[in-house]
Amino acid sequence: MPSVPSVLFVDQSGQLGGAEFALLQLAGSCTARSEVLLLSDGPFRARLEAHGARVQVINDARVAGIARQASGLNCLRVVPGILRQVRAIAAHARTFDVLFLNTQKALVLGALGKLLHRKPVIWYQHDILTREHFGRVQLSVIKWLVRFAVDHVVANSQASKRSLIALTGIAADSVPVIYNGIDADAFKRIDGSDMAALRRQLGLPEHAWLAGLFGRLAPWKGQHIALEAMARLPGVHLVLVGAPLFGEDAYAQRLHEQAEALGVADRVHFAGFQDDVPAWMKAMDVVLHTSTEPEPFGRVIVEGMAAARPVIAAAAGGVTEIVRHQRNGWLVKPGDVAALADAIGALRTDPAMAQRLADQALVDAQTEFSVDQYLQRMMQAIGRAAR
Ligand code: UDP
Ligand code: GLC
Repeated sequence: MPSVPSVLFVDQSGQLGGAEFALLQLAGSCTARSEVLLLSDGPFRARLEAHGARVQVINDARVAGIARQASGLNCLRVVPGILRQVRAIAAHARTFDVLFLNTQKALVLGALGKLLHRKPVIWYQHDILTREHFGRVQLSVIKWLVRFAVDHVVANSQASKRSLIALTGIAADSVPVIYNGIDADAFKRIDGSDMAALRRQLGLPEHAWLAGLFGRLAPWKGQHIALEAMARLPGVHLVLVGAPLFGEDAYAQRLHEQAEALGVADRVHFAGFQDDVPAWMKAMDVVLHTSTEPEPFGRVIVEGMAAARPVIAAAAGGVTEIVRHQRNGWLVKPGDVAALADAIGALRTDPAMAQRLADQALVDAQTEFSVDQYLQRMMQAIGRAAR
């Protein structure tokens, strides 16, 4: 077998979420003999192709529509569609050395076909496998597939790994943790020295004090918590960068209504999905992370650090493996509006302290979460799987 194995990467989403950005870097770095199979079409496909990846889409609307909390009955109705996709993935997988599954549905559909393709299966686990995030049926399916049809699991944080061990009982030393890598150079390229000019270019108020919250609009990402904090912070503006990617349009609508009801709408900027996250982050005075459920990893946190911004993050899940309180950022209790508002106030009134945290954050982002490290460790894991 050649030293670099050929890999079939499978991802269920055509949207640009964190798991897809992680795959983009990986698939973009081994384009020669590998391919990406998407189970839905969307902007992710064009991004992959722009990175030189070969992409195929096999879409089944009904399978794509199964929710994380789906009941057993709902799953039964889509059995024919599931079988079709299992067979299609297995047929593709047969011509590659390794099958790399990047999302939950990819795991289920790829691992179910193990007897058909007989290829080594590696799963990059991006989620915390608890009842807060998943339905009972889905957790049981994951548990059995991991035990019987997955050869290697790589977790995106110790927190994700702990949930996997608790669910499946598999040996802890069989699951390496590989953190996402963030391209710090993309942030270096943005000249943030003329803040007014940068903000003008992005259509942001030049002289306001700006708190930025990046991520898809979804209830557990906690944008509503940041809005409530704004009501306690006269003069502070909130910039929400992101869109509802997975059907959370009603939540997005509620956020607009909440901003009106709280009387903060003139200080809240809904920016929608933005491609140039480095520029938007550098335009902020502080970067917030407000997830109300434990965040499995949180790329946006490391990105805020790579942008050399002070970051305030919700202390749960993988976040506490990234942020050290008052050393390279600021941790608050998830969902605690008063604590979030106090933390923003503290950084606003003490710019020297905010700068000290940001300086350390930049160093940590570069040394602990580099893309090189991420790719190297991932290729080692894929190499081990192929043996
Ligand atoms: N992101 C983006 N544009 C936006 C909002 C978010 O490109 O408008 C990116 C962000 O930079 C990050 C990813 O989406 O790389 C979100 O990943 P994260 O791990 O923070 O959260 P997830 O959505 O995967 O739970
Ligand atoms: C998932 C998680 C997020 C993580 C990302 C990349 O989407 O929700 O916390 O950063 O995967 O691993």
